[in-house]
Amino acid sequence: MKSFKIAVLPGDGIGPEVMAEARRVLSAVEAKFSLQFELTEARVGGIAIDVDGKALPEETVRVCRESDAILFGSVGGPKWESLPPNEQPERAALLPLRKLFGLFANLRPGICFPKLTHASPVKESIVAGGFDVLCVRELTGGLYFGQPKYCREEDGDVIAVDTMVYKKSEIERIAHVAFKAAQGRRKLLTSIDKANVLENSVLWRKTVIEIGKQYPEVTLQHLYVDNAAMQLVKNPKGFDVILAENLFGDILSDEMAMITGSLGMLPSASLGLQETATGRFGLFEPSGGTAPDIAGKGIANPIAQILSVAMMLRYALGEPAAADAIDAAVLKVIDDGLRTGDIWSEGTRRIGTKEMGEAIAAAI
Ligand code: IPM
Ligand code: MG
Repeated sequence: MKSFKIAVLPGDGIGPEVMAEARRVLSAVEAKFSLQFELTEARVGGIAIDVDGKALPEETVRVCRESDAILFGSVGGPKWESLPPNEQPERAALLPLRKLFGLFANLRPGICFPKLTHASPVKESIVAGGFDVLCVRELTGGLYFGQPKYCREEDGDVIAVDTMVYKKSEIERIAHVAFKAAQGRRKLLTSIDKANVLENSVLWRKTVIEIGKQYPEVTLQHLYVDNAAMQLVKNPKGFDVILAENLFGDILSDEMAMITGSLGMLPSASLGLQETATGRFGLFEPSGGTAPDIAGKGIANPIAQILSVAMMLRYALGEPAAADAIDAAVLKVIDDGLRTGDIWSEGTRRIGTKEMGEAIAAAI
């Protein structure tokens, strides 16, 4: 029997509730596919600040290091918003985790499910039939991590500096991830840049074109980031895979998630450099946040967390059949008319977090 070690980091807000349902689904997968998951829970985010004094305790890092993958909930909440920005759960937990484990490739699927187009804020004529876009975001470079980075008083004024840096090799490796993803989909790759202004973007575009020669079957197009923001709302179906550097990808992936209308259903994967026998070490988490307004009420949508389990099985653990089974089970419960409040509409059945988890586990 194949066995995997998984670091489970539920975090704050709705994190623990939706993680409980992800664990339920993992158990169903274990039974059906003769796999064994050894789950170790560790604290991260606000709860870790409260208990351990910091958002990412050493013990949590150790648990992650000893695992085959990290299953992450979400972190942050009003309680910790008054802390200095670099001590806040989001920044102090996520960014170091990305850097520590070299999680350079962030895959963010933006799927508007055909049966859920009513939840999209975009006109029905644009989203009718649904759409499926994958954002491939570079996650360990650019403005987020470039040095120097500071804010200080100088000559009677205050100056803040962030530095945008990309090495060609960093662009190459993320471009390969995006081209490979496009190969397995509709073979259209849109690379995002601001090559009319930024040196970084000039190198980005040139490098992506070079790498593209190795993928002749993939059609490559380039869009300036401002134009891409417009085209995404105007015609999301015109996109297949989007490739973007860290900050552009941060912004566009939120826009993309919003227009799907199903933020509570979108998972994400952050994959590392380290290739293992079964895939790549990575961190798997919902695209949405901690939703403090509904935390503890048992009404949050657990599907994003559950689909994150599917991404983990697919990309880190090399178990595509088990991943497919989860994806199919989610589609089935949607087809059966089961809905949490965020995706509910007239004529469907409103259920809570636990019932949704149970229904998906039963469908596996
Ligand atoms: C995300 C988030 C993070 C980011 C924040 C919380 C640091 O917005 O994962 O998209 O900017 O990358
Ligand atoms: Mg973001």
